[in-house]
Amino acid sequence: MAATENQGQGTQQQGPEESRVFEPSAAFAAQATISGMAAYHAMVKEAETDYEGFWARLARENLSWKKPFTRTLNEDDAPFYKWFEDGQLNVSYNCLDRNIENGLGDKTAIIFEADDGTVTKASYKELHEKVCKFANGLKAKGIAKGDRVIIYMSMSVEGVAAMQACARIGATHSVVFGGFSAKSLQERIIDAGAVAVITGDEQLRGGKKLPLKAIVDEALALGGCDSVKNVIVYKRTGSDLPMVAGRDTWLHDLVEGQSAQCEPEWVDAEHPLFILYTSGSTGTPKGVQHSSGGYLLWAALTMKWSFDIKPDDVFWCTADIGWVTGHSYIAYGPMAVGATQVVFEGIPTYPNAGRFWETIKKHNVSIFYTAPTAIRSLIKAADVDPKVHPSNYDLTSLRLLGSVGEPINPEAWMWYYKHIGGEKCPIVDTFWQTETGGHMITPLPGATPMVPGSCTLPLPGIMAAIVDEAGQDVPNGQGGILVVKRPWPSMIRTIWNNPDRFKSSYFPEELGGKMYLAGDGAIRNKDTGYFTITGRIDDVLNVSGHRMGTMEIESALVANPLVAEAAVVGRPDDTTGESICAFVVLKQARPTGEEAKKLALELRNWVGKEIGPIAKPKEIRFGDNLPKTRSGKIMRRLLRVLAKGETITQDVSTLENPAILEQLKEAS
Ligand code: PRX
Repeated sequence: MAATENQGQGTQQQGPEESRVFEPSAAFAAQATISGMAAYHAMVKEAETDYEGFWARLARENLSWKKPFTRTLNEDDAPFYKWFEDGQLNVSYNCLDRNIENGLGDKTAIIFEADDGTVTKASYKELHEKVCKFANGLKAKGIAKGDRVIIYMSMSVEGVAAMQACARIGATHSVVFGGFSAKSLQERIIDAGAVAVITGDEQLRGGKKLPLKAIVDEALALGGCDSVKNVIVYKRTGSDLPMVAGRDTWLHDLVEGQSAQCEPEWVDAEHPLFILYTSGSTGTPKGVQHSSGGYLLWAALTMKWSFDIKPDDVFWCTADIGWVTGHSYIAYGPMAVGATQVVFEGIPTYPNAGRFWETIKKHNVSIFYTAPTAIRSLIKAADVDPKVHPSNYDLTSLRLLGSVGEPINPEAWMWYYKHIGGEKCPIVDTFWQTETGGHMITPLPGATPMVPGSCTLPLPGIMAAIVDEAGQDVPNGQGGILVVKRPWPSMIRTIWNNPDRFKSSYFPEELGGKMYLAGDGAIRNKDTGYFTITGRIDDVLNVSGHRMGTMEIESALVANPLVAEAAVVGRPDDTTGESICAFVVLKQARPTGEEAKKLALELRNWVGKEIGPIAKPKEIRFGDNLPKTRSGKIMRRLLRVLAKGETITQDVSTLENPAILEQLKEAS
């Protein structure tokens, strides 16, 4: 298990001592699905009293099962837990057919807001038809239950339909964010052993066309991807593209003539719905494997509990389908509860930084879910250009706000509360992870008094706790390691191809092998017991809500022929939460001045090519060496202090080369 040496590194610190409290309004509480703290405590108690009974009841009430389950939780092979294992269902059936059977066929499922503002809508019936034709097309290509399909697409109805189509036929999808490089894509294709890639010709972002299919071609040309027999291409921009005969098919040709009905493939609850790659502290990205039944249950329930979703709501989650938020709260959760949602192709600053606010008004959005990074950058934009300040927009349709992906600093929380929510919308600061499948710790909007910067309390059934490094509970007011003491239905099932890494990463022996280790530090308020996340305790960075391992970036840097050694650390950043600072030793003499600038740019672009633009270091400093102990271990702790521009106060007597610190203090 990683030491807590770097606990709280780089994240915006907000103390558990924050004293402002915002009660949900009486009007909100009165209509809420979970109304008032007594209702919350009753549910917590129910889960504590009869854990399996609690989850079994919810799974029966909230999902449609083709074959009902009789066994709720199987812990025989812990930590490889199984939920509802003898039950059978289909996720796409639950998201589409079930709504149609319940009379919601003509209800709008998706309002698609394109980059240029064009709007297209799809009702549940229309989406069902699209998904069925897509699914039949995939089947016609020989893609079947258990096959892995990579989805490398931009935000579109087709992207969501691709995920649902895979779910319908029991194929396991793995969505790769459209900003990842050919090399990252290739690695994921190989690890997943994918038989097909679904992509677009290009993506449109902020008025610019960016490649997709060309990157897929490049990834496949890198080699090792022989498992891929088909590439399906959605035509978005219509640019001229080479198509490889026998391998590439346009989506419109694939679905041409296909039946609008497709019998769902009924799968076991544990059948892997998707694999989503995310960064860990060491090694290559890990393929987080999620189930069908337990995952969908939690996606649906959290829509009801955390977002208080109601039939007339218009829900908008601004995430990308390439991240887990876009899985649980775009592709699955909203449809599992028959909601209407906005799917947005563009970026928050195009055509101007009022785009979010304009779009909320345009579609009467009532529930808005975004990341602190976006809020912080829009606060800045409104300071610079008062025309895009939210006060210029009618935001009265909003009734609930959400935040996700990183700690929200109290200033950003207050701005969000006041200027976007008009001081009447509760804010749900939802703490969760790729591995957890859905929200874990969050206020309930009609119950929990909110404290800016705190994700407050665990949802009913989530046994979150804070322990020390020996797995012992720590008292409130004392920081420690965030764990979950009991398995829950939507948890990660394993790391694809690597069950040992699953065990050692999430259920370390030091903690007894049965507690889920989240990888974050946390502290609970002495009086309220509210949780505040203090940041990762491992070498995982969170830049603009994007999760990256320092090791991945270091490996990318040392893969460059000029680089001898590299160490990457995070440092706090006003807008992006954290930013990447790399310390690099070149094989040639340490560059300075213009030469250093030129090489830094070259290396940034290199990392962009190796991993993707999101991984480009914000700053690169060159040194003759890195600070090391006598045994050769790089002292990242010291580098973090230097990256922040602070003076080193720690003992450096164990360093082999203390003089190097002076050299690394600032840009070369
Ligand atoms: O450090 C925590 C931070 O994001 C990490 C999970 O990243 P990822 O798997 O990419 O999932 C992001 C979307 C759920 C966590 O380990 N994090 C996420 N939400 C919050 C947060 N930190 C503080 N507060 C949050 N609400």
